[in-house]
Amino acid sequence: MRRFLLLAAMLCLAVPAVAQQAPGAPSPGSPSVQGGAPEIGVGRGPMPAGNPPNTTEPQRPTGVATQPPPQAAAPTPVTERPAVPPPALRNSPDAAERELQAALRGERIEGRITIPDPKAASLIQPEGRDWRQFHNVTLTWVGGVAVGGMLLILVAFYLTRGRIRIEGGRSGRTIQRFNLLERVNHWMTASTFIVLGLTGLNLTFGRHVILPLMGPEAFYGLTHWGKILHNYLAFPFTLGITLMLLLWVKDNIPNGRDIAWFKAGGGLIGHGHVEAGRFNGGQKMVFWITVLGGAAVAVSGYFLIFPFWVSNVNDLQLAHTVHALISVLMIAAMVAHIYIGSLGMEGAYDAMGSGQVDLNWAKEHHGLWVQEEMAKARQTIAAPANAKAAGAD
Ligand code: HEM
Ligand code: HEM
Repeated sequence: MRRFLLLAAMLCLAVPAVAQQAPGAPSPGSPSVQGGAPEIGVGRGPMPAGNPPNTTEPQRPTGVATQPPPQAAAPTPVTERPAVPPPALRNSPDAAERELQAALRGERIEGRITIPDPKAASLIQPEGRDWRQFHNVTLTWVGGVAVGGMLLILVAFYLTRGRIRIEGGRSGRTIQRFNLLERVNHWMTASTFIVLGLTGLNLTFGRHVILPLMGPEAFYGLTHWGKILHNYLAFPFTLGITLMLLLWVKDNIPNGRDIAWFKAGGGLIGHGHVEAGRFNGGQKMVFWITVLGGAAVAVSGYFLIFPFWVSNVNDLQLAHTVHALISVLMIAAMVAHIYIGSLGMEGAYDAMGSGQVDLNWAKEHHGLWVQEEMAKARQTIAAPANAKAAGAD
């Protein structure tokens, strides 16, 4: 009986195997040569109608009795999986759910990574959102209002007050105001500042203002080269503000006369002039804005040029915020300085052009300084004469 059962079982197993084997196909055990070749037409869209493709599949010879269809294999038992409960009912939410909840609570979103850079594990951090809001909204407004507002004020000032003239007219006699080193350094600092400002403003406003005008390719080129210029001009700019500090700090210490100068509207409003030394209250302000503002912009900028050297992502966001805010405020201040140093005041530009200013201009704006210079000149002239006289005695 057991032998019979064994034979019956073997027959049952053999029948489907034989039935599945197509006539003409290699017998079991022989190497399957074309087994892996895909059928023509697979994955290439629908077959052309009325034009059946050639196939490598062996064809059944005509006249051969059709084999009975192979017995359907017994269905694999499927264990039923419980339906995923809605998020509210789950005990431990999955990663995506946790991320969403963290994002809604304003928390950091981070995970595990296998690369050596641990910073990459942090995908989103709350300060990043604050920074993006600052960059895309606050900075654009502060920058736009400061620079645009200053331009409007200057236009209004020019239209109402006009150019500030030398009241006594040009005397035809000049006095040296700045030597070559001072002028070369001023122009190096000024020109690098202007390029840094323009390339920086392109990062803040370019995508809103320039990109729509010139298109993405040209804007890419402009921004790429602008960014390189911004990085490299940072160094001569830093040198320039350092030299300015060394050359001019002694004449820029604030004193009581500066307050009087501001109270009198600096001679810009009205026509009276307040006595001033080498630099008046307004010029001292320009000096300190340049030196202190420039230093803040430079330090924060170097953090950005060399990210993650001594800083983490929070420091970088702070550095960027400080850099961008001080920069746009400085740009607004310098627009006013450039106006007064050129178009706004007759005779002012010569100080940084030839270095020689008209004596009447100098007396009107820097009377005390002219007296000091005259006293020095008298001493210089008098010294050899006195020495000669002493020798003659
Ligand atoms: C030592 C001097 C400076 C250094 C090292 C420096 C460096 C940098 C760096 C690395 C960036 C970030 C660029 C980026 O997002 O890829 C930047 C942005 C910027 N810089 Fe400077 N910079 C310097 C001076 C200046 C000056 C003098 C001004 C203004 C006259 C200025 C204005 C800006 C502005 C407006 C931005 C763009 C902020 C934004 O919208 O993202 N920078 N600077
Ligand atoms: C085209 C642009 C500029 C022009 C025409 C210009 C013109 C002048 C002139 C005529 C003076 C001499 C004023 C005096 O007799 O005391 C001066 C001084 C000065 N400039 Fe400029 N300047 C320009 C840009 C800049 C920029 C961008 C900066 C800062 C980064 C700057 C910083 C200074 C400083 C600190 C002084 C000495 C303080 C003062 O006299 O106000 N200048 N500039």
